[in-house]
Order: sequence, then C-alpha cells, then structure tokens
Amino acid sequence: MKTFSTEKELQAISAKLLKEGKTIGFVPTMGALHSGHISLIEAANEACDFSVCSIFVNPTQFDKQVDLDKYPITIEADKKLLEAANCDFLLLPSVAEVYPNGKDNYTAPDIGKIVGILEGKHRIGHFEGVMQVVERLLRMTLATDLFMGLKDYQQYLVCSKMTKVVGLDHVKVHGMPIVREKSGLAKSSRNVRLSKNGKELALNISKRLKKTRVLNYKNNIKRLEKKAEEFFEKFPEIELEYFEVVDKNTLMKPTGKDKKENLIALCAAWIDGVRLIDNMVLS
Ligand code: PAF
Repeated sequence: MKTFSTEKELQAISAKLLKEGKTIGFVPTMGALHSGHISLIEAANEACDFSVCSIFVNPTQFDKQVDLDKYPITIEADKKLLEAANCDFLLLPSVAEVYPNGKDNYTAPDIGKIVGILEGKHRIGHFEGVMQVVERLLRMTLATDLFMGLKDYQQYLVCSKMTKVVGLDHVKVHGMPIVREKSGLAKSSRNVRLSKNGKELALNISKRLKKTRVLNYKNNIKRLEKKAEEFFEKFPEIELEYFEVVDKNTLMKPTGKDKKENLIALCAAWIDGVRLIDNMVLS
C-alpha cells in the first residue's frame, strides 16, 4: 500500500490510472478502523481496479469540540488492517491540505430538507461538514466510485444527492450493508469508548430495531415509535435522542400508508457519553 499526504502526489498516479481506463474505488474514513470499514475496502477491491482509503478526522463535521477531541486516533493499527485488506492507496492529509483556502470558506449545496432532519436536527452543521469533506476528498482522489456504510444511512443519502448537484454525477455511490457484532451491535469506531455495561445496554438499540421490524401494527408509524420510546424508558442509562420510522428514500414521514419495504427505522442514543446510531429497513 502506498501512502500519500498530498493531493498532488496521489493525483499523479490516479490521473494516469484514469487515462488507462481504470476505475478507482474510494472509502473515506476518520480512522479507528474496524471490520465495517474493511468490508468497504473489500467491496472497493471487488468492484474497482484500485482502492483508495482516506483517514482524515474532519473538523468541520463535529458540532461539539469535545466529540472531535475524543475521536480515537489509531493510525499504525489502521495501516496494518488496510495492508491486510490489500488496499492500494492511503491518503493521510493534513487539515491545510484538505482545506487550502480555510475550512470555513464553504457554502454547502442545496440538497433539500434531508440535511435538517434526524441527524441533521440533532447535530447542527454536521451534514454540511460531511458534504464539504466528501466532495473535496472525491476531487483529491479522482475516484470513480464511492463506498459508504449504511450504518450512516442518512449520510449515504446526503452524499449521493450531493454528488449529483456538485458536478460529480459520474461518481457511482455504493451503500454497503451494516456490519454487526455477533450480539447484533452495529460496528462503530465509537464502540471502544463504551464500558462493559454500556456495551450490554447498547444491544437494546439493535434489539428494538429488530422488534420494530417484526411488529405488525399495520405500519402504524406513530405506534411503532411510541412503543420504542416506552421500551427505552425502561433503561435510564440510555438517553434516547430519536427513534423514528420514515420513508427509506426521502427520510420523510410517509403521507399515506406506505408499504413496509419502503420504511426504515432509525435510532440515535447516548450511552456512557457515547453517541450511537443504527437503523433497519422494515421489510
Ligand atoms: O462516516 C465517516 O466516518 C465520516 O463522516 C466521513 C464519511 C469519513 C467523512 O468525514
């Protein structure tokens, strides 16, 4: 695996590859890699001629400085995992390299209401920062394909929409299945910050999503959400931020009776001071 810290070095190679008609699959990450990230590298290797991973803890997508400060940095271990997964290129840029004109010099494209709901409602400015960095990294890497995990389902939809409106519609965006631990807990870089008890408690998130999937309330969304809220009230150590059932394409509340296969349940909750998210399509 070749490691680059600048756009210029990486582009010297990727521009040549594109000229030869090769495809470049890109996996953006903030490091602290786990098997969920590695599954994305494997998918990129499978679908594309070359794979590029970036590790960059993007300051513009954190609404709380403390969350940014606490973000785990494990570069040496990450490199080993990427080597073992046969990742071709690693981009490890500085903040100045990613934002040469300053990180605050950005106007997010208008991609509609999706930016201000669910995650966007609770993490003000988060998706603007995600769009800013993903657009910039796509331009730095010259990627033809983008691989994103569906644990961050809203992020995947936001980035898909963003590529269409900023002139990156040639980039094929792949949403890849959530990787879970045997227990059902969705893999996340934040899980390492959970205590043993916190990890046990966190299992209730995927449990409730599964329960919501099997419940048959004739898709009575209000009832599904209320039952979930009542369930989480039994655990005072879990601070539920939202549990919502919405249309899986728009993330809006369906107006009429939507078919179960069009619905998704999304959840965000705090445990041990760690913010966890997960989701499940209801079909
Ligand atoms: O999902 C993440 O880790 C980040 O939001 C991403 C896509 C790497 C952008 O910084």
